[in-house]
Amino acid sequence: MEALEAIRKRRSVRKYTGDPIPREDLEKIVDAGRLAATGSNRQPWDFIVVTDRKMIDRLKVAAQWMEKAGAIIAVVMDPSSRWWVEDGSAAVENMLIASTALGYGSCWLEGYTLPLEEEFKKLLGVPREKRLLTLVPIGVPAEWPTKEKKPLEEVLHWEKY
Ligand SMILES: Cc1cc2nc3c(=O)[nH]c(=O)nc-3n(C[C@H](O)[C@H](O)[C@H](O)COP(=O)(O)O)c2cc1C
Repeated sequence: MEALEAIRKRRSVRKYTGDPIPREDLEKIVDAGRLAATGSNRQPWDFIVVTDRKMIDRLKVAAQWMEKAGAIIAVVMDPSSRWWVEDGSAAVENMLIASTALGYGSCWLEGYTLPLEEEFKKLLGVPREKRLLTLVPIGVPAEWPTKEKKPLEEVLHWEKY
């Protein structure tokens, strides 16, 4: 799928069939994440791909609808980088678009603002000094929601606000 088409098509998908996702597709998705822009090119991240059903069952306490995801990608950031939130967010958006391009549904699930961040870090073996920016469930879509977006002419300004 062409890049602009995938960007247009991307929506937060929260219903999955439960089918597994081939490892090479998950690698492609993480690869898209690691290629994102980062402040000073620090690339202050690690990505944990969880496919084990038992672990998915434990992570789904954050959001029951993740139950049938084929995988959950935990985005782990080094907060010593000044731009860790921006860097990680760029990686997440790349992964959402890559998932769409490959025909999967995905959604951004809050992580570092979650009360469960510390519990999830322990569960996933994340070092204490790192932060869990977000969890990104990926799945074969059981539905593709539509979500209204502000029209371009409402948000686009030429030359001045
Ligand atoms: C920073 C951020 C945090 C989000 N956290 C959640 C979340 O915790 N749970 C959830 O279901 N969706 C979450 N979302 C998805 C948004 O609800 C979704 O992007 C928004 O409603 C627009 O819909 P769309 O993604 O289909 O365009 C989050 C999105 C962002 C960017």
